[in-house]
Amino acid sequence: MAINLAIFASGTGSNAQKIIEHFKNHPVVQVTLVVSNNSRAGVLDIARNSGIETLILDKQRFRNGDGYVGLLKEKRISFIVLAGFLWKVPDTLLDAYPGKIVNIHPALLPKYGGKGMYGKFVHEAVLAAGETESGITIHYVDGLYDHGRIIFQESCSIDQGDDPDSLAMKVHRLEHLHFAPVLEKILLSLTDAKQDLK
Ligand code: GRF
Repeated sequence: MAINLAIFASGTGSNAQKIIEHFKNHPVVQVTLVVSNNSRAGVLDIARNSGIETLILDKQRFRNGDGYVGLLKEKRISFIVLAGFLWKVPDTLLDAYPGKIVNIHPALLPKYGGKGMYGKFVHEAVLAAGETESGITIHYVDGLYDHGRIIFQESCSIDQGDDPDSLAMKVHRLEHLHFAPVLEKILLSLTDAKQDLK
């Protein structure tokens, strides 16, 4: 069974890049679509350079319309990965993909998540609180920001002299190391479960 992945991203797309590389020539999983709310996002260049189809979202249609469900189903997307995607996922899309949407957050949830907690704001808050460690969280997506069930976490230490930029680099390193392999595990376990049902 082939699994078609859509990556949703709003920015540079370094995580998307890693995921695309990881699943290149994979026997089961393929990245079929890269979706963005921002027509100038770097992630779109990454997709184009890899020959992957792209889609730019219209805010009204995404939030208050069909949530692009029909189109995603038409393209046989079976799983959605949020990799630096800043819009909240509407219920229409959540309902169409139950347990099939995951996100990565650049801190150890449940702390330092929620609306407005993205990019450097997260690292600034972590440092301001005097934490001695931060890290990454991969989690299922539900109707609230950074809230769904946690799948995987990895931490890094915060050292004296760390600033938001240096902490962001540490966290990105962890993301690039773990996101794609963790995704692969989730996706392959889905195909195993299907086989068990036969
Ligand atoms: C990552 O730090 C991710 O945790 C967060 O957004 C950032 C995206 O970075 N949700 P990039 O665009 O993949 O480089």
